[in-house]
Amino acid sequence: MYRFEQTFMNFLLQHQERHKRTYHFLILMDALISSAKHIQHYYLTGALKGNLDSAEDVNVQGEDVMRMDRIAQEVTLYYLKSSGRVIHAISEESDEIIPIHPEGGRYFVYFDPLDGSSNIPHGLPVGFLFGIAKRNLDGPEDGHLRAGKDYIAAGMFVIPTGTFTLGLKEAGAWRFHIDETMTFVRPTRIWLPEDMKNWELSFNASNRHTYAERVQKWILENESRYAFRYLGALAGDFHRVLSNGGMFMYPAIVNHPNPKKNRPEGKLRLMYEAAVVAFICREAGGAAVNEEGIPILDIQPTKHHQRTALYVGSKRLVDDITKVLKEKG
Ligand code: F6P
Repeated sequence: MYRFEQTFMNFLLQHQERHKRTYHFLILMDALISSAKHIQHYYLTGALKGNLDSAEDVNVQGEDVMRMDRIAQEVTLYYLKSSGRVIHAISEESDEIIPIHPEGGRYFVYFDPLDGSSNIPHGLPVGFLFGIAKRNLDGPEDGHLRAGKDYIAAGMFVIPTGTFTLGLKEAGAWRFHIDETMTFVRPTRIWLPEDMKNWELSFNASNRHTYAERVQKWILENESRYAFRYLGALAGDFHRVLSNGGMFMYPAIVNHPNPKKNRPEGKLRLMYEAAVVAFICREAGGAAVNEEGIPILDIQPTKHHQRTALYVGSKRLVDDITKVLKEKG
C-alpha cells in the first residue's frame, strides 16, 4: 500500500489558514523551494558538468561553465523575482543589496545560496540558508536591515541530502525530507533533546589555540563530556546539533600567531548565517549568542554583510558559555 505523506506546501497552507494569514508567504516559500530543488539538481549533476570545480567562465569546448555558487545565486534570484513578493534581497554572493520589487514587494529575503564552499569540490553537503522579514504594513517602509528577532521565518536546506528545516515565528522548528518525486514531505517538529546522552560539540578544532583564553579554558574543561563532530558547512553541522543536542561554535579569532589573520568580529555572516540558525534554534528550544554573550537575535545589523562570532545550540550549554563570555578581560 502506498504511503501518502503530507507535503510541505500543504503543511504551510494549513499553518497560514490556522493563523488567519494571507497566501503571500506561500508564494514566497514556493520560490525558495523551487530554488533549492534546482540547486540540488545542479549540485548532484555538477561533477559531470564541471560545476563543482572552480572553473573559468569558459571551458576548453568553448561552453560557458558556471561555478556552482553562481548558478545557485542566479537560480534563487530568478525565482525570488518571479514570486513578485520580494522588496529587496541580500545575498552572500552579491556585494550590494539587490532591489527586486521595491514598491509592490512584501518581504525582505536574506540568503546564502551555497554555504560551506570548502565542501563543493568534494560534492559533500553544503547549505542554502535564508531569513525572511516582512515590510512594515502599518506605515511607510524604510527598508532598514532587520535583526533576527524581527524575522518571520528562517530556514536551511542541506544540499544534496534533501533535508529542509524551517523555523516559523512562535510556531516551532520543522523538518522535511525530499521524496522520490522531489517533493518536500513529512513535517516533523524538532525540539533540541534535553537528555545530554548524544550531545555534540562542533567547531573548527584547528583554530582552538587562536580563541580567547577564556573560551580555550571552557573547551578544555568541557570537551570530554561530548562527542566532537565537524563537517565545515554550517547547515550540516547545525543540523546534527539540532537533532542530537549540544553546541556549534565559531568563536572570534583573537590569538592567531599571524595577527593579520585575527578575526575579532568573527567569521560567519550575521544576517544570512548566524541569525538564520539562531532563529531556527530558538524555535527548537535553544539559544545563540555572540562573543560578548549577547543574543544573536538581538543584534541590530549595521552592515548587510556584517560578521559575528556564534555559539548556538542547547540552551543549558549556550547559557553556560555565555557566563564565561561575559567575564571581563
Ligand atoms: O561561512 C562559511 C562557512 O563555510 C560555514 O558554512 C562554515 O561553518 C564555516 O565557514 C567553516 O569555516 P572553516 O573552514 O574556517 O572551519
